[in-house]
Amino acid sequence: MYKCTIILAAGQGSRMKSDIPKMLHKVCGKEMINHVIDTLRKCDIEDIDVVIGNGAEKVKAGTESRKVQYSVQKEQLGTGHAVMCAEDFLKGKKGTVAIFVGDGPLITKTTVEKLFSYHEENQYSATILTSIMENPAKYGRIIRNEENQVEKIVEFKDCNEEEVKVKEINSGMYCFDIESLLSTLSKLNNNNNQGEYYLTDVIEILKKEGKKVGAVDVPVDEITAVNSKVELAVAEEIMRKRINKKHMENGVILIDPNNVYINCDVEIGKDTIIYPNNVIEGKTVIKDNCTIYPGCRIKDSVIEENVTIQSSVIMESTVGKETTVGPFAYIRPQSVIGNKVKIGDFVEVKKSQIGDGTKISHLTYIGDAEVGKNCNFGCGTVVVNYDGVNKHKTIVGDNSFIGCNTNLVSPVEVESNTYIAAGSTITEKVPENALAIARARQINKENWVKKNNK
Ligand code: UD1
Ligand code: CA
Repeated sequence: MYKCTIILAAGQGSRMKSDIPKMLHKVCGKEMINHVIDTLRKCDIEDIDVVIGNGAEKVKAGTESRKVQYSVQKEQLGTGHAVMCAEDFLKGKKGTVAIFVGDGPLITKTTVEKLFSYHEENQYSATILTSIMENPAKYGRIIRNEENQVEKIVEFKDCNEEEVKVKEINSGMYCFDIESLLSTLSKLNNNNNQGEYYLTDVIEILKKEGKKVGAVDVPVDEITAVNSKVELAVAEEIMRKRINKKHMENGVILIDPNNVYINCDVEIGKDTIIYPNNVIEGKTVIKDNCTIYPGCRIKDSVIEENVTIQSSVIMESTVGKETTVGPFAYIRPQSVIGNKVKIGDFVEVKKSQIGDGTKISHLTYIGDAEVGKNCNFGCGTVVVNYDGVNKHKTIVGDNSFIGCNTNLVSPVEVESNTYIAAGSTITEKVPENALAIARARQINKENWVKKNNK
């Protein structure tokens, strides 16, 4: 049967107290609404319509990469009104439409599929995704009749004393037969506590018309909605646990899964060990057998097998096999670090290539450079890549030994198999096999101290 979905995302989200539209707040590194869209795509749902209103342009820009359709709700007159605004999207379609909310990022593929199949197998006109909550707070309540069939949904603010005690709640997510939904939308009114057109009222109308309505209940974790920053943290925690569990099931060792922060699109290989207090972001890939000690932030990077990283930041870069990084190293975007390299303490590398086997052990800055294989950088080397206006490139050939406290003033080339004396300021090319000394000679003035009565 034909399937499509509508995502309601026009609400203001005033309880978030934020300048960013609610739907664009991130959970484990991805915007809430994009979590919903990506989950629906995994269920092979092609036609997705997002109802936008508050912060419409920003929500559109934030979801652009997902290639969805949009309906605009100019005034936010309620969830029922929001669906009315998507009428053009639904018109002429026959089949099932599922409705989700942009602030419910925790919905999973399994649940979406369960909702569709339950709805279609039972030939319901509407199927509500529900949950049982010990403390149902402000969620709408599912009211059932004596035969235990769903009668209606009553919003928290409209509940009487009996209704408010009901623990079965409305997730705000449903499946509808498209034609039945379209025929009821025009019958909605706003005679309620909030003066809004409630989508939830569609249920009672359908029931009164003698149509079949069903409900599927799922764990609360699936449908938890985010209305405030407190709830945002709750959603983050649920999602984080899911992500961490997935990695452990794939063979990753998390020493303390409660204290590792891994974004949803990160991939990690088996037998990699991740210590607490690490943040791994974006599209990072960490391969097998790596050890990530505490205090690292790794973003949009590729870490090859058997790498060890301690207390370091790595951004948009690649780190080769068996390399060690840190403690306290900073690898900035567009760096490519080779295999068996040592990037030691207080080393910063920016937009540079470092060849296999090279050691940069301490207190060094390498920027805009191409460094060969098996070089050794002494402590305190600085690539002077910036003249105050432009950035310039430095090239260091294979097997070069750069003495401590050397400045390499770019643009400059140090050829292979060279040796630079400590304290040199290199401004000219160093030819292959040469020793370069570029510093003032030492002068000793004999007995100078005695003569000056010091
Ligand atoms: C809604 C349900 C409630 C359910 C809860 C689950 C109604 C009347 N109530 O309440 O039964 O328990 O969700 O989370 O549907 N939106 C629009 N346009 C509007 C109003 C809302 O697009 O005019 C969007 C919001 O952006 C949001 C979603 O609809 O994504 C839900 O709106 P919200 O105001 O959060 O509804 P609740 O009061 O939480
Ligand atoms: Ca809500």
